[in-house]
Amino acid sequence: MSSDQFELTNANGLRVRVLSYGGIVQSIEVPDRDGVLANVALGFADAQGYADHPGPYFGAIIGRYGNRIAKGRFTLDGASYSVPLNNGPNSLHGGLSGFDRKIWDARAVDGGVVLTLVSPDGDEGFPGELSVTVTYTLTDDDELRIDYEAVTDAPTVVNLTNHSYFNLTGVGSGSDVYGHLMQIHADGFLEVDAGLIPSGEILPVEGTALDFRSPVAIGARIRSDEAQLLLGGGYDHNWVLGGEGLREVARVVEPVSGRTLTVLTTEPGMQFYSGNFLDGTFAGSGGLAYRQGDGFALETQHFPDAPNHPSFPSTVLRPGETYRSTTIYRFGVEA
Ligand code: BGC
Repeated sequence: MSSDQFELTNANGLRVRVLSYGGIVQSIEVPDRDGVLANVALGFADAQGYADHPGPYFGAIIGRYGNRIAKGRFTLDGASYSVPLNNGPNSLHGGLSGFDRKIWDARAVDGGVVLTLVSPDGDEGFPGELSVTVTYTLTDDDELRIDYEAVTDAPTVVNLTNHSYFNLTGVGSGSDVYGHLMQIHADGFLEVDAGLIPSGEILPVEGTALDFRSPVAIGARIRSDEAQLLLGGGYDHNWVLGGEGLREVARVVEPVSGRTLTVLTTEPGMQFYSGNFLDGTFAGSGGLAYRQGDGFALETQHFPDAPNHPSFPSTVLRPGETYRSTTIYRFGVEA
């Protein structure tokens, strides 16, 4: 497995490692309230680890289509398309050989790394040649900024995200994320079925275990018997974010270390996934097995299965248009 590794550092000593394989964010070292650095991003010691264990999509760029497309089928401009089924009867995260498994062209730039990929027409069944640029920048404000751009030579659908899992106690600490306080600035979420495909209904978070409008520990209600939670085996839903432009959509506080994570995005949705399918069958960069609840992902995105839901924000990209999206993971500490 050949992959280049890039190291981004900033004035405050934060360090982020990025691989050209999958455009993977391999590690994010940030200080706790006493200044002690720890890696807070789940992953593996080398690229081979990711190739051997692609299932969790640790740290990877997801494309062409983040999250699920029902039955792997959609129509666009009257033509029907099929993409691989790799999640029961549905397609997940771009198919069998998504962007998480490609070797990206990568070059270091001031404060960051620029990754590019040309996905040929018909790649995993998606139409149009798609040229993608993803730029990771580590700023002196302790932000990992991700800028996505894409252009196509034929109409297609695109939904790019990053699949980093965080554990602010530090990977290998032996602690799960259930004590992290999660806040998501969203009034609604997408109702899903047993295959985690949206019904099309936006349900209010009010009165449910998905209400994170005020900070609540991830573990406080994760064993709720509400139908939506049982379907996901925990949190695995798309929150419908209000507002527009680059705005704060979530904030996480880990009370013991004091580490905080604030998420800003231009996207209309965010999948909060509580690592429900990590099953302890392999270990990673912390030297310990990854088990259920050892990390959480906040995947900023357009809505799952949007190509089959005309009422959802559109994921269609046409020649002459440029897909643009920005997400910021801002790290900090609280006293
Ligand atoms: C999905 C989960 C899936 C996970 C890792 C998340 O984005 O919503 O259902 O298990 O990615 O594959």
